Amino acid sequence: MILLKKLLIVLVVGLICAAVYLLMDAGDNDQQSALLDEDVFLLIAHRGASAIAPEHTLTSYQLAMDMGADYIEIDLQMTKDRVLVALHDETVDRTTDGNGTVEGMNLADIKKLDAGSWFNAENPDRAKDEYVGIQVPTLEEIFSAFGDSANYYIETKQPDQSEGMEEKLLELLDQFELLEASQPEGKVMIESFSADSLKTIYQMDEDIPLIQLIDNMDQLIPSPETFELYGEYAVGIGVSAKKVDEEYITAAREAGLLVHPFVVDKLAEGEKMKSCGATGIFTNDVDAVSSLK
Ligand code: G3P
Ligand code: CA
Repeated sequence: MILLKKLLIVLVVGLICAAVYLLMDAGDNDQQSALLDEDVFLLIAHRGASAIAPEHTLTSYQLAMDMGADYIEIDLQMTKDRVLVALHDETVDRTTDGNGTVEGMNLADIKKLDAGSWFNAENPDRAKDEYVGIQVPTLEEIFSAFGDSANYYIETKQPDQSEGMEEKLLELLDQFELLEASQPEGKVMIESFSADSLKTIYQMDEDIPLIQLIDNMDQLIPSPETFELYGEYAVGIGVSAKKVDEEYITAAREAGLLVHPFVVDKLAEGEKMKSCGATGIFTNDVDAVSSLK
């Protein structure tokens, strides 16, 4: 009889634990699924919290997460020795104390550079001693630092000059278990101005949500056929906020695409984008637009 009671207690406790686990798991999935819900308005931290810290540094990304960004945006370049690093420009000139092209430099040389002092010099009102000597991070370092605590919105830059960039990106995502754990809910999104780069990724893994960036030079609203073509591999578009209006955004939304205008740092402009039907914005200043959530 006592044994039966004990067995019963073990069974009940086990059932309660299983129920709690399932409820917590369902909660996580709901949160992730919501990222790509068309009714959710996303705040994408453009180059991290780049209004208040040196862009594309671990500090900048951490600050963006602290502010409640839905995603940290990362521009990818490939070094001469084929390491993926977070840098916007083709050269290190603007955002470090060095000179030269990223593709012409090995990682060891890039690691010697100071990626923070330029920010202090250009923004004396936001300068901090801690930014001095900060390094350019590799993508691996970013994933090591934030793991699955962050959501990543990653851009392949100059992919035509960096053969194999897409394969390396997917290898790293896989290594850090950021693919299986998140698809297709949107833990990782990949963006590019290069349709070829996005299609290469789509061929390798069609579950990764992709965003087609549209060049500022193109002033016209793409035709329904063009939006349809984007929709064959991408879930949405990224386009300059200066270029889009309600008609543009509505046309894209009617084609089933998410729309993420860039770069919006003023609340009034963010409100306008949201009222026009945008499903998120790229912003340098998450704090300034956080009430849009
Ligand atoms: O990724 C969206 C937007 O960031 C594209 O412009 O030049 O800042 O990478 P850019
Ligand atoms: Ca970008």
